[in-house]
Amino acid sequence: MTGMPADAFVSRLNEQIAHEFAAHQQYVACAVFYDGETLPQLAGFFYRQALEERDHAMMMVQYLLDSDAEVTIPGVAAPQTGFSDVVAPVTLALAQERRVSEQINELAGVARDERDFTSEQFMQWFIKEQVEEIATMSDLLRVVERSRDDPMEIEQYLAREHPAGAGGDPTAPQPAGG
Ligand SMILES: [Fe+2]
Ligand SMILES: [Fe+2]
Repeated sequence: MTGMPADAFVSRLNEQIAHEFAAHQQYVACAVFYDGETLPQLAGFFYRQALEERDHAMMMVQYLLDSDAEVTIPGVAAPQTGFSDVVAPVTLALAQERRVSEQINELAGVARDERDFTSEQFMQWFIKEQVEEIATMSDLLRVVERSRDDPMEIEQYLAREHPAGAGGDPTAPQPAGG
């Protein structure tokens, strides 16, 4: 890696690491709610989403390690754990993904403003990932809203469209410890 990342980018990326770990905790909370409702496909979907968020944080940690930049491992705010129905966690998840997309775009903007093109390029994978996550969560929200009185319809949709063990993206940045 050539050159140091810009200080402004490093401090914003450290903030983003906290947001990604918070997203991990929130998705664990969603998964546990569905597990408690005996909806194993919804639970599994959110357990897997949680692991992806942890990976995002650890990819950012690895980038800072590789750049000899300061890394701070944050504490995170407590997630929401009580939900009124099967729709609420997905509504919350979509709002969270929209917020993260804005944060990721801002990070790419900071890198560009600082003429830190290495960091700007690092953010490109996350920009693409957020487009996919918003599409996935928007689709799931439509399904849970339509089938809120028949959660087995939701379970069948997830088993068909998002089976366990799918995925693995060879273009993804390397997570720390991965
Ligand atoms: Fe993420
Ligand atoms: Fe996400």
